[in-house]
Amino acid sequence: MPMPDKFAFVCINQRDPAHARPSCIHNGAGDVFNALREEQGRRLATGVKIVAGGCLEACMVGPVMVVYPDNVWYGGVTEDDVPAVMDHLEGGPVVDYLRIGDAEFDLRPPAE
Ligand code: FES
Repeated sequence: MPMPDKFAFVCINQRDPAHARPSCIHNGAGDVFNALREEQGRRLATGVKIVAGGCLEACMVGPVMVVYPDNVWYGGVTEDDVPAVMDHLEGGPVVDYLRIGDAEFDLRPPAE
C-alpha cells in the first residue's frame, strides 16, 4: 500500500459539557469521523489517511478538521458534507462553504 498523499485530521476532542468552550465530539465529530472512514472505504481511497485528533483550537465552529498538506481548514462539518470533503481529499476542489481561517481562531467563548 502506498504512503498517503493527503491527511485529514479530525478533532474528536471531548471536554466537560459545562466548559466555556464547546467540544467537537459534542457537535457530531464522531459521526463525521466515522462517515469519512466509511466513505474512504467505499471509494477505496488508499491515498488518503483519516486521523482522529485532539483540539485544533477553533472549537467555537466545530466539528473542525484540517487537510494536509493543503493546510485547508474546515469547520461546522456534518455527515452530509463528507462526500464533498472526500472529493477534496482525492484531488477535487476545496469545499469553500466549510472553509475557516484566522477569524474563527479568534473566536472566544462568552465571558462567564
Ligand atoms: S474541541 Fe475541536 S477544535 Fe477544539
